[in-house]
Amino acid sequence: MFVASAYSKKEIFTDIDPDLVIFHCNELVTMNTKFGAPRTGEDMSELAIIEDGAVAVKDDRIIFIGATDELISKYEFGKIPTKIDATNKLVTPGFIDPHTHIIFEGSREKELLMKLEGKTYIEILKAGGGILKTVRETRQAPLEKLVENGKKILDRMISYGTTTLEAKSGYGLTTESEIKQLRAIEILNNEHPIDIIPTFLGAHAIPPEYENKTEEYVKHIISDMIPKIAKEGLAEFCDVFCEEGIFSIKQTRKILKTAIRYGLKPQIHIDEIVDTNGAKLASEMKVIQAGHLLKSNDEGLKAMAENGVIATLLPGTPFCLMLDEYASARKMIELEIPIAIATDLNPNCWTESMQMVITLACYLMKLSPPEALTAATINSACAILRQDEIGSLEIGKKADLVVFDVPSHEFLPYHYGVNLVLKVIKNGKIVVDNELST
Ligand code: NIG
Ligand code: FE
Repeated sequence: MFVASAYSKKEIFTDIDPDLVIFHCNELVTMNTKFGAPRTGEDMSELAIIEDGAVAVKDDRIIFIGATDELISKYEFGKIPTKIDATNKLVTPGFIDPHTHIIFEGSREKELLMKLEGKTYIEILKAGGGILKTVRETRQAPLEKLVENGKKILDRMISYGTTTLEAKSGYGLTTESEIKQLRAIEILNNEHPIDIIPTFLGAHAIPPEYENKTEEYVKHIISDMIPKIAKEGLAEFCDVFCEEGIFSIKQTRKILKTAIRYGLKPQIHIDEIVDTNGAKLASEMKVIQAGHLLKSNDEGLKAMAENGVIATLLPGTPFCLMLDEYASARKMIELEIPIAIATDLNPNCWTESMQMVITLACYLMKLSPPEALTAATINSACAILRQDEIGSLEIGKKADLVVFDVPSHEFLPYHYGVNLVLKVIKNGKIVVDNELST
């Protein structure tokens, strides 16, 4: 098996015969990390595009990246088993979706009517809907059903160009059912071509049996859930829904400190509905990524910039909640906060499509197409600490690529609401093929 651990080992790959090449790419977006990872400010617009570009792949790795002429002179073209002609096509790194809740039972389409009547997210939750409805159904679902539901979501995600994602528990809220969700993630990670990074989110809501006893539930998370989950190695990250009426700053800090002690890395949902000073906490705890940030204050944002906390923006969520406010992405870019974007796929905000998120990020948060693509690839790789392996197309990195049936990256947000993917290559293998290769 051909193995490369990091893209620094450039020299060793040039004399190896490729299994697969993609050539004549109209735009080959490399996202070369010499421009920084994560990227901030103006560097978020630097896609490091190669025109008439080419990539060569051996096993699961990229062994060449450059101009098509160079590729043709370097290798015996006729001998290469799989050749993809990408004339007039766009080729990018596979999308990385760094914030999702893909493991759940049931659906919440009925809440659309409540939202149209003006009910807020917290009102729906307090009425026993929202997260708590999904918790009731997820607790009852057998592991196999959660795996089946998750597989359907992953199949759709990969067909839309996502090759790696982060997935959270958080619809169990008992030790046993949180572990059931994390096991479903583990099974899917082993069985599906998509790579999944697991996150424990026991602090997602207050379960009904702990109503008005949040402190007791926090104690349970700290003394029972985190130790068991860490011991079984079921999660890499620990997340908390830090929000007014859910988990306070103090409770969030306590949970994350325990998680860190047990070897889990911290991340948070903050300032989605109310500014609780979540951005300040994110900086203080030096979390890897913080999600939502609609209401974060300037002081907190500046602290995030200073501490290199990645802002994972989730424009699908305010869109599905019918809010007229989105995270201040332009201000964040000005402050040099690294921005990632994600679907936040959950039963309130259900899309598998990072293409859709790119569209929402551009039209509703005013990211430019290059900024949105950076946020969906190299910066989202950083948000899950996988920037040495994925997120850009460089020699030695994983061969996770997407061929789109459009000539340039500007088309990704512009031609919206349809799937522009032609082919997806994951770990060097074609896993989605909407057109035969030569
Ligand atoms: O990130 N805000 C908290 N959690 C999820 C939503 C979960 C749900 O509504 O089921 C989010 O948006
Ligand atoms: Fe979320």
